[in-house]
Amino acid sequence: MNVFGVDIGGSGIKGAPADLDRGALAQERHKVLTPHPSEPKAVVGAVQEVVRHFDWRGPVGLTFPGVVVDGHTRTAANVDKGWIDLDAGALFSDALGLPVAVVNDADAAGLAEVAYGAGKDRKGVVLLLTLGTGIGSALFIDGALVPNTELGHLELHGKDAEKHASSAAKEEHDWSWAHWAERLDDYFAMVEQLFSPQLIIIGGGVSRKADKFLPLLKPLRAEIVPAQLQNDAGIVGAAMAAAKLG
Ligand code: BGC
Repeated sequence: MNVFGVDIGGSGIKGAPADLDRGALAQERHKVLTPHPSEPKAVVGAVQEVVRHFDWRGPVGLTFPGVVVDGHTRTAANVDKGWIDLDAGALFSDALGLPVAVVNDADAAGLAEVAYGAGKDRKGVVLLLTLGTGIGSALFIDGALVPNTELGHLELHGKDAEKHASSAAKEEHDWSWAHWAERLDDYFAMVEQLFSPQLIIIGGGVSRKADKFLPLLKPLRAEIVPAQLQNDAGIVGAAMAAAKLG
């Protein structure tokens, strides 16, 4: 079955029909630049452009980089503050004239990884962490998601953890891989102490370069592996959320 997924990211808004039998994109994705400022109206316009590109008629799943409960976006750490306490589900659905599901971006990536990728068939506590502009988290127990865990905002050395260890912070401060790995050690040690996951999956764009930093990390009790769907995880996971709309 094909369902449309859209991944709303800091730099690009990417969408495609996803083939949920295979957990892969059914067609090449279409990408437009994320508007800046990322106000709701401007983002809705960009999403319309992506969906229209495919002339899609059917449910649409969308990721959002903040807390989402029942289609309402509650927080906006790295996007325009106009998203706080907005009925984003209704906004997108009215604009597209289609049923929509809105889901946190890391939760979407986690859903896809647990169904088709690095977390497939894994029991127990599995945690996906996306290292990007922020740090996103998706927590699973026996394959079931606990949504909106927001572990990027745990406090580490008196700061938001994502300021201490995201890949955007690495870029901004021009940290070496070795220095960044030390910061990740602190962060992962804290997360492990709190949640004791059996498996940690590292997602986000930088997971493509996992060989540069995963071997530098201090050993954890948890197994730690890179995500497998990489760029497509958000689109596939958003489509999975929309498939549940029935
Ligand atoms: C947001 C999360 C999001 C993560 C990755 C954080 O700042 O609070 O909701 O999943 O960034 O985009």
